[in-house]
Amino acid sequence: MIILRTVREMQALAQARRAEGKRLALVPTMGALHEGHLALARTGRRIADHVTVSIFVNPTQFGPGEDYGRYPRTLKTDVEALRAEGLADVIFAPPVEELYPNSGDGENLTWVTVDSLGDTLCGAYRPGHFRGVTTVVSRLFNACRPDVAIFGLKDAQQFLIIRRMAEDMCTGIEIVGVETQREPDGLAMSSRNAYLSPEERAQAVVLYQAVTAAKRLIEAGEQRSQAIVETMRKTIGGAPLARLQYAEVVDEKTLQPVERLVSGQVVLVAVAVFFGTTRLIDNAFVRTP
Ligand code: PAJ
Repeated sequence: MIILRTVREMQALAQARRAEGKRLALVPTMGALHEGHLALARTGRRIADHVTVSIFVNPTQFGPGEDYGRYPRTLKTDVEALRAEGLADVIFAPPVEELYPNSGDGENLTWVTVDSLGDTLCGAYRPGHFRGVTTVVSRLFNACRPDVAIFGLKDAQQFLIIRRMAEDMCTGIEIVGVETQREPDGLAMSSRNAYLSPEERAQAVVLYQAVTAAKRLIEAGEQRSQAIVETMRKTIGGAPLARLQYAEVVDEKTLQPVERLVSGQVVLVAVAVFFGTTRLIDNAFVRTP
């Protein structure tokens, strides 16, 4: 396993591996690796011959007042976690100037944006966030030249936006999604769980409970979105430290809110909740019976 820091070296290595006929996988991350990230790398091992895990805390996807400065940076333990299981051939951990070569003395000028899909759910509350994500992911694609890129369904909106970007930009890169990895009580694993106090951590399970309750309701035949949202709100309301940002039922393709579900339709039920300044999300795809 090697650690590369420059785009030039990364591109040269990808080209060499490709010339050997290898199928290359990329797992983009911001580090502070947990079992969720490792599950993506394991998928990479299974479906490709060569796995690159990128570790880069991307400044352009954090809004003003968000946690860019204090986001956990744990490269040493990340490297060890990947090495212990032999999960990566390359760790690509560039400094900011490598992926934003012209931004040192000013603002970034070149962006990749996917319209409309980024306007709802998290996008409505984090303006510019998904533009930052699609911009950095397209740069990672150009640096790492993968055949397949692997993302978590925990960030369902991000997954759908990136898949759309990869198709629309004719990248030829296959986008693979991996199920949300959870703690034993159901809380979705996240680097941000580390910010929670013990009381907040205990109550954070309400996100999973809300999503599960919504899923059960839909599977039992409820088609009124309002009733489903109400159930999610009530569940979140059961945690005194939780502050709901949104609870929504949206169409899986457009990500626009659905009023009445129709038979056979797949919807995404999604919640975002603050515990103090820590923002957590959870969601599930559900097929209407
Ligand atoms: P990060 O939050 O580090 O997540 C990296 C990848 O791990 C994402 O695809 C995310 O969906 C996945 N992931 C996180 N928690 C997971 C869990 N509990 N189960 C399954 N997958 C999980 O998402 C980002 O970084 C960034 O936006 C990035 C795509 C790297 C662009 O900067």
